[in-house]
Amino acid sequence: MNLTLKIWRQANADAKGEMVTYSIADVSPDMSFLEMMDMHNEQLIGNGEDPVAFDHDCREGICGMCSMFINGEAHGPDRLVTTCQLHMRKFKDGDTITIEPFRANAFPVIKDLAVDRSAFDRIQQAGGFVSVNTSGNTQDANAIPIDKHDADKAFDAATCIGCGACVASCKNASAMLFVSAKVSQYALLPQGKVEATDRVMSMVNQMDEEGFGNCTNTGACEVECPKGISLENIARMNREFMSATLKG
Ligand code: SF4
Ligand code: FES
Repeated sequence: MNLTLKIWRQANADAKGEMVTYSIADVSPDMSFLEMMDMHNEQLIGNGEDPVAFDHDCREGICGMCSMFINGEAHGPDRLVTTCQLHMRKFKDGDTITIEPFRANAFPVIKDLAVDRSAFDRIQQAGGFVSVNTSGNTQDANAIPIDKHDADKAFDAATCIGCGACVASCKNASAMLFVSAKVSQYALLPQGKVEATDRVMSMVNQMDEEGFGNCTNTGACEVECPKGISLENIARMNREFMSATLKG
């Protein structure tokens, strides 16, 4: 396939960015999107030009690093896949593909398509954990019965990979789908109940401090989430937050 790529180029956080147009030839439909970007970068390097900076790590849909806004959609036109799992067969010969970074005030551009998502780390550090007594008399987790329905829902919430597509897709740059997945994964389990009040208060406060917007129930986050995280988690987080607020 021969393609035209329109890629956001920005030297650093303070530089003024711009869309730059490139041509790329002989792209195999079997390539992943990132392999196509690698091929493009090899050509740029061969021409003595600066390669396009973009994030990636696992390249198998697990780490959540590959943040690209492709043709106006986080992770591109496919559903329930990350950019690294997107294949070039989703495009046609002669297509023009627009590639931008995930945009949100809380995700400042580092360079080109790479953005700083450390705000998510700080939200997670604020409460996304359980404190475990390691004195030697800790109860075996398998000895605590958990309703299968709750276990499945907690597992579904835990599949959030922290990619940030929900933020990039939201007109308010809200992080509520991400934060609610992290809150829900513990709220549904007995192990998470002990710190539930502090957890939801701390994580929501940190989310607000980082400058993410609020949720207005548009639902774009759920559509673009590569892991199918449900809006139902936002409703659960709101209930948890209300309950924590009433407890003071
Ligand atoms: S909720 Fe979905 S879109 Fe948002 S960070 Fe988690 S996996 Fe990514
Ligand atoms: S590179 Fe890890 S999810 Fe895409």
